[in-house]
Amino acid sequence: MNRKEIMSYMRCREDILKDMDLMGPKGQLDIKKNEKLEEIVGFGEIIIRYLNKFPIKKNTLTVLECSCGKSYLGFILSLLLPKACRKKVNLVGVDYNPDLIERCERLSQKLRLAESHFFCRRILDFKPQTDIDLVVSLHACDTATDEALVQGIRCGAGFVHAVPCCQNQIRGQIKDGHPLDMLTQYGPARYRMANLLTDTLRAEFMRAAGYHVEMGEIGSPKLTPKNLCLSARKVRRKYKGRRDIGYRHLKDLFNVKTAIEKMCPEVLEN
Ligand SMILES: C[S@@+](CC[C@H](N)C(=O)[O-])C[C@H]1O[C@@H](n2cnc3c(N)ncnc32)[C@H](O)[C@@H]1O
Repeated sequence: MNRKEIMSYMRCREDILKDMDLMGPKGQLDIKKNEKLEEIVGFGEIIIRYLNKFPIKKNTLTVLECSCGKSYLGFILSLLLPKACRKKVNLVGVDYNPDLIERCERLSQKLRLAESHFFCRRILDFKPQTDIDLVVSLHACDTATDEALVQGIRCGAGFVHAVPCCQNQIRGQIKDGHPLDMLTQYGPARYRMANLLTDTLRAEFMRAAGYHVEMGEIGSPKLTPKNLCLSARKVRRKYKGRRDIGYRHLKDLFNVKTAIEKMCPEVLEN
């Protein structure tokens, strides 16, 4: 299913969009709701493309949505995957906001799209009780994206897809003290460089953890400037060899410390 097909399928399920508050009661889509819908459709398209290209031999996929908020993405995947990939979804959502978790539980009872369980936890503290096939995370604030990636590594998920939010951890570290400091002397340039560096370091870290990583976009930057999608597919069972060269090189070049390494040092311990 491409973006257009996904969108038209979703429009046929207006009842669900209304229940999720992605559409007004009379079918109206205001700018905010439309943006969220477009983000989820763009993200869904990437996930569906992966699942169809690298099929998992199971009828039901367990999807862990980290930092789920209102679990727009999780519910929409529960709706889309049976049609687009012929897979049922077992949805597990984690967020540390109890009000949002309560809302997700209520909505899941109403929609009955999939077997769903929601947990009020910090992502890093969550210990899944079942095998996880797919970890997804949309706009998890700052280092919560790192927590989602680490959760993916620790639970051995075959696929991890994350669209990061704000990347604050490195900005203050790259003002100077590295050979490319001409590039980071002006505030807005440093901001952009920090975003790029943070996400590339995350990609290289996932690579070191045994994943093949690609970067894509869930939509145009006009839709959201936070449109970059890190897609990681597990290719090795053990951390082996010198898959961490890129990560170490980039980190040393800019002389920075990362949240992901602090959370999951075992990836680099071999
Ligand atoms: C910007 S919202 C995104 C919510 C949802 N993914 C979406 O796209 O609508 C970020 C969410 O992350 C949750 N969050 C932030 N840090 C977290 C952490 N470390 N563990 C669990 N949840 C976290 C917040 O409570 C909030 O619901």
